[in-house]
Amino acid sequence: MKILVTGAQGQVGHAIYELAKQQYSYQLFAFTKSQLDIVNKEKINQLLAAHTPDIVINTAAYTAVDKAEQEYELAFAINRDGVKNLAILCKQYQIPLFHISTDYIFDGTKTSPYMEEDPASPLNIYGQSKWQGEIALRECHEQHIILRTSWIFSQFGHNFVKTILHLAQQKKTLTIIEDQIGCPTPATAIAETLLNMAQQVYLGKRLWGTYHYCSDHAVSWYEFAKEIIQQGQQFFPLVTEQVLPISTTDYPTPAMRPKYSVLNTNKLKTTYNINACSWQKALSDIIIQITNAVKK
Ligand SMILES: NC(=O)c1ccc[n+]([C@@H]2O[C@H](COP(=O)([O-])OP(=O)(O)OC[C@H]3O[C@@H](n4cnc5c(N)ncnc54)[C@H](OP(=O)(O)O)[C@@H]3O)[C@@H](O)[C@H]2O)c1
Repeated sequence: MKILVTGAQGQVGHAIYELAKQQYSYQLFAFTKSQLDIVNKEKINQLLAAHTPDIVINTAAYTAVDKAEQEYELAFAINRDGVKNLAILCKQYQIPLFHISTDYIFDGTKTSPYMEEDPASPLNIYGQSKWQGEIALRECHEQHIILRTSWIFSQFGHNFVKTILHLAQQKKTLTIIEDQIGCPTPATAIAETLLNMAQQVYLGKRLWGTYHYCSDHAVSWYEFAKEIIQQGQQFFPLVTEQVLPISTTDYPTPAMRPKYSVLNTNKLKTTYNINACSWQKALSDIIIQITNAVKK
């Protein structure tokens, strides 16, 4: 199966690349932003024509949640218009398009896990641009999968795990938000899920639509940070002695975030037989990989 991946230097793009190269059943064409800018329709056309993939996976996105409040034109250009470009061209070539979206399309007022059909009501520009990307994809190309996920972490790129490990080597006390609840999700697990779904689609299961995927254990950023430090201290010279919980109001950011963005993953289980993942085990593997990268 030939798969074309966008955003290959990002967390999920990189994880797909690492996973697919170990498996002979995939021929992967992975493009970084400089090789394939999804805003550039002509370039997308050129690469689809040259490689004729069976499936396209779009991991490319504008993901700077706070910066997006200022750079909203760029966020929409990538997260809405870029996705639309891919959708139009994939439709033209009759190629299924897999796309990743976010828990931040929800406003976080629910107290039970969000279902795929719950109404979107994003609180920030990033969430709005991702929601508009979903709408554009649904309108332009029926053969699509939208996989919504949350709180991605990995050994690649920037993420909360790396930030906490960095801060815990500098500061004796950390203050971390405890009134935002979500499900940390390893990029590798998302990559496995996308490749698994791609395989099933390739073999004829064509259940298009929107799916939720994340880990099965919801936590606050505070609880997540404590676990990172607990596991990280075996590998890094951490100096943090206490982690204190604070509320969102104590740590104002340019973008508002949902207080509760846990996703219900039952639909993915019943259709594609894919279970929610565990983040705790993945966290220790990722910390080891970050340690190894630092030693090199
Ligand atoms: N990170 C999270 O916690 C999270 C949570 C839920 C959903 N998501 C979604 O999951 C997906 C993957 O996220 P991630 O964490 O892997 O993101 P990431 O690490 O920020 O990677 C995104 C990649 O897309 C590239 N990119 C940006 N603009 C592009 C363009 N115009 N054309 C092609 N590539 C472009 C970026 O390159 P540069 O870095 O050079 O700009 C980066 O390599 C995204 O759709 C994101 O919205 C993320």
